[in-house]
Amino acid sequence: MSNHSEKPANARDDWTIDQGWSDYTADEHAVWDLLYKRQMDVLPGRAAPEFLEGLKALDLGKGGIPEFEAMSDELEALTGWRVVAVPGLVPDEVFFDHLANRRFPAGQFIRKRNELDYLQEPDVFHDVFGHVPMLTNPVFADYMEAYGKGGLRSLDFAALKNLAALYWYTVEFGLIQTDEGLRIYGAGIVSSKTESIFALEDPSPNRIGFDLERLMKTDYRIDDFQQTYFVIDSYEQLFDATVKTDFAPIYDRMQGKFALKPEDVVADDAVITRGSQAYAKAGGRLAPVDGGK
Ligand code: PHE
Ligand code: FE
Repeated sequence: MSNHSEKPANARDDWTIDQGWSDYTADEHAVWDLLYKRQMDVLPGRAAPEFLEGLKALDLGKGGIPEFEAMSDELEALTGWRVVAVPGLVPDEVFFDHLANRRFPAGQFIRKRNELDYLQEPDVFHDVFGHVPMLTNPVFADYMEAYGKGGLRSLDFAALKNLAALYWYTVEFGLIQTDEGLRIYGAGIVSSKTESIFALEDPSPNRIGFDLERLMKTDYRIDDFQQTYFVIDSYEQLFDATVKTDFAPIYDRMQGKFALKPEDVVADDAVITRGSQAYAKAGGRLAPVDGGK
């Protein structure tokens, strides 16, 4: 969500830049199309219906990297959100301020063909394909604005880690229970082919029912598949639990620290799957291909 680098010279005061859509090469558009196709091979039946509806409503599969202005005009007509281009990660207060004003800050560069699967920094595919479809859902759209406002408020507390955990375990890596089974709504999952399968089907990770404080005190992996996914029943549940709760006493209790490790399961958890953690124990993403034998 943040780093501490200087604002680039080409960025405006709010850190936005031009998307530079006409500067994308044919090959960069082709990388978008390739990533889009790879995801659509795995997402039907795995992604939340609201995500798939959002993709369709914004016509994100029409070919090539979407142009932010045209896409934003359509999104704004639906939920009042727009997408603005930023140079990679931005300071927390800038990020929160954009969300609080229903602007989603998105990277404009696209990954190279030799790094389709693992990325250090979010690119336009993660940010637009992953995040923007859910912004067409009115309840989720309101949640994102509330998160931005909550983020601005949190700057007065030692709260950033705990508030970031909420974003991580919902906006980035959230699962939702539906009548047809578990589905993915988190942007970090839906934009990754391997994690889309892992998050739903692998026996390694825990899958635990959403509980606000439980999740805000849980550390998370930023460099590999999650060891625990939290499952909401509805976007209304997520909205109500966060918007109707005053976080100040929570921040005071947590003191900016994580009481639980990513893999922990505790007594009060509503456990859906208790994970074997086999993937993480074997070394995760960096495990030797021959299993070390
Ligand atoms: N209710 C939170 C607070 O008191 C604000 C918030 C809403 C935070 C939604 C995150 C998501 O700070
Ligand atoms: Fe993201």
